[in-house]
Amino acid sequence: MSAVLQQAGKAEKGVLKGAIRIEDVVKIYDPDGAAVMAVDHCSLDIPAGEICMIVGPSGCGKTTLLNAIAGFHSITSGSIYLDDELLCGPGKPMAQPGSDRIVVFQNGALFPWKSNLDNVAFGLMMQGKLGKKEIYDKARSMMADAGLSGTEHNFPGEVSSGLRRRVEIVRALMNEPKVLLFDEPYRALDSLTKSVMHEALLEIYYKNKVTIFFITHDLEEAIFLGHRLVIMTSRPCKPKKIIDVDIPHPRDYSVLTSTRYRQLMDETVELVHEEAKKAFSAGEKEG
Ligand SMILES: Nc1ncnc2c1ncn2[C@@H]1O[C@H](COP(=O)(O)OP(=O)(O)OP(=O)(O)O)[C@@H](O)[C@H]1O
Ligand SMILES: [Mg+2]
Repeated sequence: MSAVLQQAGKAEKGVLKGAIRIEDVVKIYDPDGAAVMAVDHCSLDIPAGEICMIVGPSGCGKTTLLNAIAGFHSITSGSIYLDDELLCGPGKPMAQPGSDRIVVFQNGALFPWKSNLDNVAFGLMMQGKLGKKEIYDKARSMMADAGLSGTEHNFPGEVSSGLRRRVEIVRALMNEPKVLLFDEPYRALDSLTKSVMHEALLEIYYKNKVTIFFITHDLEEAIFLGHRLVIMTSRPCKPKKIIDVDIPHPRDYSVLTSTRYRQLMDETVELVHEEAKKAFSAGEKEG
C-alpha cells in the first residue's frame, strides 16, 4: 500500500470502505462451445480508497474482470469480495449489481432533457428513501465541491464535455458508493482535455475517498492517477506485475516532468510492450 494511502487510512481509520479482493478468478466464455478463457486464476487485493489502474493488451480480459465486479456477468470459478462480503464465488457465480459499486459511464449516461441538478438528484429521488429537500441540498453541495456551482440549471448539452463528465461522477457519488469502476473513460479525448479531466477526477477523489478501479491503455493516465498500476498479461489475463506509483498525492500536472515519473514510464512501457507483442503474435496464430 502506498504511503499516501496509509496516511489516508490512518487519518480516517474505520471510515475507508471498499476493499476489493479478487481470489483466483477464472472466466471462460463458452459461446457455441468455442471456449475462450478471458481471465486465468487472477488474484488481486485492492485496499479501500486506492486508485488502482489496470493496464494490459487489447482483448486480454480487463473489461471481463470489471464486469464481474460490477455484477454484469458471471465468473467460472474463484471469488470476489467487497470488504468482507462475498460478491461472487462458489455457489454464487454472479455478483448482484449494487449501488456500492458504480460503473461511471462517461458518454451519454446523463438524461439530456433534465438539468444537471436533476440528473445528479435522480438516483436518490428514484430510491424514495430521503426527502426531496435533503436530496437536492446534498446534490447542490456535492456539485459545489466538484466545481459545478452555476451549472445546476443548465442541461448537460449546454456545458462543456469536461463539466458534463464531472456531473456524471458527482451523480455516481450521490449514492455514496464504495467503489467506482471506470472502463477507459477518456479514450476518445485529446491529451489536453484529458489532462484537465485527470486533475478534476483527482480533485473529486481527494474529497470522496472511494476505491477506484480504472482500466486504461494510456500509460501517462495510469501513472498520473494511480496509487498502483496492475499490468495484466495477454489473454487470459492475470497480474503480470504490480507497480507502486510512489509519487505523493495530491498530484498535479507537474508530476509529468519529474524524474520518478520518467522512470516509472520506462519500466511500464517495457512490460506492457512485451505483453502486447505476445497478444499480437497469438492473434496472428489464431487468425
Ligand atoms: N460476451 C462474450 N462472449 C464471448 N467472448 C467474449 C465476450 N466478452 C469478451 N469476450 C472475449 O474475451 C476476451 C477478453 O475480452 P475483454 O473485453 O475483457 O478484453 P479487454 O482487455 O477489455 O480488451 P480491450 O482492451 O480491447 O477493451 C476477448 O477475447 C473477447 O473477445
Ligand atoms: Mg475492454
